[in-house]
Amino acid sequence: RTDATTDYYDLVQRAVDVEILPGLRTPIWGYGGQFPGPTIRANSGRRTVVRVTNGLGAPTVTHLHGGHTPPESDGYPTDLVQPGAHRDYAFPLEQRAATLWYHDHRMDYTGPQVWRGLAGFFLVADEEEAALPLPSGERDVPLMICDRSFHADGTMPYPARPDGPGAQEAFMGGVLGDVILVNGAPWPRLGVDRARYRLRLLNGSNARTYELALSPGGTLVRIGSDGGLLAAPRTVDRVRLAPGERTDVVVDFAAYRVGDHIELHNLLGEGAQARVMRFTVERDARDDSAIPKTLSRVEHLDPAKAAVTRDFEFTSGDMHGHTGWLINGKPFDARRVDARPKLGQVEIWRLTSDVAHPVHLHLASFQVLSAGGERPSGPPEWKDTVELREAQTVEIITRFTGYRGRYVMHCHNLEHEDMAMMSTFEVV
Ligand code: C2O
Ligand code: CU
Ligand code: CU
Repeated sequence: RTDATTDYYDLVQRAVDVEILPGLRTPIWGYGGQFPGPTIRANSGRRTVVRVTNGLGAPTVTHLHGGHTPPESDGYPTDLVQPGAHRDYAFPLEQRAATLWYHDHRMDYTGPQVWRGLAGFFLVADEEEAALPLPSGERDVPLMICDRSFHADGTMPYPARPDGPGAQEAFMGGVLGDVILVNGAPWPRLGVDRARYRLRLLNGSNARTYELALSPGGTLVRIGSDGGLLAAPRTVDRVRLAPGERTDVVVDFAAYRVGDHIELHNLLGEGAQARVMRFTVERDARDDSAIPKTLSRVEHLDPAKAAVTRDFEFTSGDMHGHTGWLINGKPFDARRVDARPKLGQVEIWRLTSDVAHPVHLHLASFQVLSAGGERPSGPPEWKDTVELREAQTVEIITRFTGYRGRYVMHCHNLEHEDMAMMSTFEVV
């Protein structure tokens, strides 16, 4: 539904059985009864209201990851939608074109609820991007990559919660699956024209990090990051994605011949965990697309303008007698505010890890100033999730704009998040 000012979407969360492995029924929880949920295509500056109706047996919270969203619609982890109830999430989308996604964000239960299937794409378009000759339509393909494991009967078991001794080890690294799914399918095949395709890669896994490359060989041209288009394209031979991160790449299948099979591999996996998906080049076709040398103007946030530098340490530690994941020594507590950035203020946040943690900030996109003491190569890009490698310090710079109120920063390893590696900041 749509009116003069707003586009409306209705998503009913339902428990259904779907076929993921041939011949088997897998119970999932899905937005719209599907996994992934429906892809929402929205326009920058155009208000979009998503009504989420909870048709499940447990409370849910929906968050638009990468959204520049007022606090009441951001999916704060305790803003529960109870079974049978609904909530209208309103997104003004005062933000540039980007590959976003929505997913469950219920406090303590995000890991199991996303694992069951509560996630989908939310693509924001704008005029700047539409004016570029990038591949579009059928040749603009969102790919949600996530791992799951299956019992012989097709069910996707999520390990029990870590209350008892022993069970906890399984949670320390996060929950991994041994089958990689792309848009909910194992090892799928996409038939392609001999033409350029834009692949919007999202790591929707609970805990697994990927390094994706084409086999047998081929280049990926990175054009976008979490927060939209890069200033200029960058040719790479692989992309690394920690949970929650996105990158948009262009692949030119005209570099291959009709009949060729090209595989997308995960260089960090072995056997089944290395296999992501494959492409078959089916036909010659006309291709009017191009990758312009300049994609966008990306503002460079200047560290000299930062009013404050804050430190956040991401470490394990004691949490009510068992090991949990903490930020600055504290577990998440919805009654506590850990930072109060001023609206409009530029800040540097210095993030330090023990083991690897993909850190995600709500509301504000940021740029990476340094990682492990080194400046990132290439011009700045807008991100909302950054991987802290083991024992690393990453400095990010951001500006808090748009809305005052309560938001969270957290580890996007969903088991770490559920084990309290989350902190509230309030824009004042
Ligand atoms: Cu994708 Cu706070 O999450
Ligand atoms: Cu988010
Ligand atoms: Cu973590």
